[in-house]
Amino acid sequence: MDNVQLIDDNGKRNDGRGPEDLRPIKIEAGVLNNADGSAYIEWGKNKIIVGVYGPREMHQKHLQKPDRAIVQVNYSMASFSVDERKRPGQGRRELEISKILSEALERSIISNKYPRTSIDVFIEVLEANAGTRCAGLTAASVAMADAGIPMTGLIASCASGKVDGQVVLDLDKLEDNTGDADLPVGYIPLTDEVVLLQMDGHLTPQEFDKAFGLAKNACVEIHQLQRDALTKKYSQDPDEDNGEDQAGEEVVSE
Ligand code: CDP
Repeated sequence: MDNVQLIDDNGKRNDGRGPEDLRPIKIEAGVLNNADGSAYIEWGKNKIIVGVYGPREMHQKHLQKPDRAIVQVNYSMASFSVDERKRPGQGRRELEISKILSEALERSIISNKYPRTSIDVFIEVLEANAGTRCAGLTAASVAMADAGIPMTGLIASCASGKVDGQVVLDLDKLEDNTGDADLPVGYIPLTDEVVLLQMDGHLTPQEFDKAFGLAKNACVEIHQLQRDALTKKYSQDPDEDNGEDQAGEEVVSE
């Protein structure tokens, strides 16, 4: 696989994108009736649905924080979401992704409003084609706003990386599997905070700066799609039960 050419002589990637192009992204807010908040995202060939419950009293008392809410993410991949049937249940990868996404989301909420509570976030990957942690985080942030959880700002997330020796934005599965590096970034444009940063592979400091800048700029674009999804939901549905909370107090006033 090492000798697969991922960028052709015209600078086009295997799916026709240029190096700095995102895959098409569609976000919908409030897609589930029985969750407090929800969102669905299609990002290239990724399909992910997120349901949020809470804030609700934390049943495991030893995990309660007396001064704040905590976020518990459960990232899960359906068996049919990948080429080779995935064994059901949480493996190491799912645990790792759940942990880093919990930490990122916790940074975006005004957690001292809800001491001793938990906000439970279920990220269900229905189809996976690389970048699911970023797409899942992007959708989870919309779902938390849809649940009316007060936030300092929405988290938008996107990976950049390196393929064929070139820095590119938003790697698809072929690029992720055979490329040189992958750099997932989670960013709150409103507060200019980076809440997720991982790196798999090798980048020089100059390549890192370029890749990081590309991902952050893409997050600004994705943030607008998140806002559009919330605006669409709440302008169509003004009588919705949780209408008073709408998209989280800080988010609606952005
Ligand atoms: O999805 P993300 O890029 O955040 O995570 P990853 O661990 O870098 O996985 C990249 C991709 O590999 C996933 O999106 C899936 O398409 C694929 N994958 C798979 O085919 N089977 C698995 N058990 C796990 C991942």
